Amino acid sequence: FSLQSLNTFGIDARARTYLRVDSADQLRAALAAPELAAMRRLVLGGGSNLLLTGDFDGLVLHIALQGRELLAGDEHHHHVRVAAGENWHGFVQWTLEQGVGGLENLSLIPGTAGAAPIQNIGAYGAETRDSFHSLTAYDPASGESLTMDAAACRFGYRDSVFKHEAGRGLVILDVTFALPRQWRPNLRYAELAQAVAAQGIAEPTARQVADTVIAVRSRKLPDPAVIGNAGSFFKNPVVPGAQCLALLERFPALVHHRQADGAEKLAAGWLIDQCGWKGRNLGAAGVYEKQALVLVNRGGATGEDVRRLAAAIQADVMARFGVQLEPEPVFV
Ligand code: EPU
Repeated sequence: FSLQSLNTFGIDARARTYLRVDSADQLRAALAAPELAAMRRLVLGGGSNLLLTGDFDGLVLHIALQGRELLAGDEHHHHVRVAAGENWHGFVQWTLEQGVGGLENLSLIPGTAGAAPIQNIGAYGAETRDSFHSLTAYDPASGESLTMDAAACRFGYRDSVFKHEAGRGLVILDVTFALPRQWRPNLRYAELAQAVAAQGIAEPTARQVADTVIAVRSRKLPDPAVIGNAGSFFKNPVVPGAQCLALLERFPALVHHRQADGAEKLAAGWLIDQCGWKGRNLGAAGVYEKQALVLVNRGGATGEDVRRLAAAIQADVMARFGVQLEPEPVFV
């Protein structure tokens, strides 16, 4: 079964067995079959955060559960629940149509709602965990569904329990967000605040913030429907404050952001750009010309092409800055 249309990199890898999952009952029934339960599993949503490095000799579960619901909420928050297979951007736009703000900074992020907690998707000063209430996950090992709150999800920067041993086997079925009744725009991210101000808007609505985010993203990030990619290919590395200071002496233009604990987050895109990689190709894989943090499929790239390019970039950034870049997508 070809997975080419199921991963945003557009890599033409194959799976031994493929199953589209439209309901939790269907998932339970499928995994009750010993021949399916025994296979290696890959749980796939929008396929926007993975690199297929070869064929997958196992079962691909394509999570397609649909549905979104405005719940009663509480005194301070609206609660909205979304099924894992819903398109993330479509869901965010739907919340805005319901008059519920809070997710607008995360507009236009590719992928499904069920994948959002896995890597704690974030952009423009907001992260999933800021608005997260709880989720339902199916545990194939026990056959039970469980409710997990934010603490159980162990969110970190582009990270959660679902990327680690303790949570890797769980299948997310739906996610509930708590969104403020008293909405205020989140314009902490300087580039977003500037883009809003540039339109002469003093007090933006959630819709206006969403439209601005969509415009900014469209300017610098490639549309996966047009050119294969998985968004940022590397995490922004976090280094000790002292290391950042030493780097600043040699590279005064270094882009860095101080963290609450005194560590510094460096802009990986800047580091890669400085190494001259922006717009360059290696085989059929390349570095996007408008944002060096995004690796793209120039047409017919294999996972191996992308991996080779990523390794060459990591080696150059290490040689020049002494900083190790860590990939963001999951390698399969
Ligand atoms: N920069 C360069 N050259 C480049 C790219 C960036 O010099 O080629 C500099 C920019 O000038 C800026 C800094 O690096 O000063 C940061 O760039 P940008 O604002 O574009 O954000 P980013 O750090 O590259 C992160 C997220 C994105 C998210 C944006 C906006 C990560 C790994 N990436 O990118 O998330 O959309 O901030 O919040 O944290 C994703 O995870 O897939 C993703 C796209």
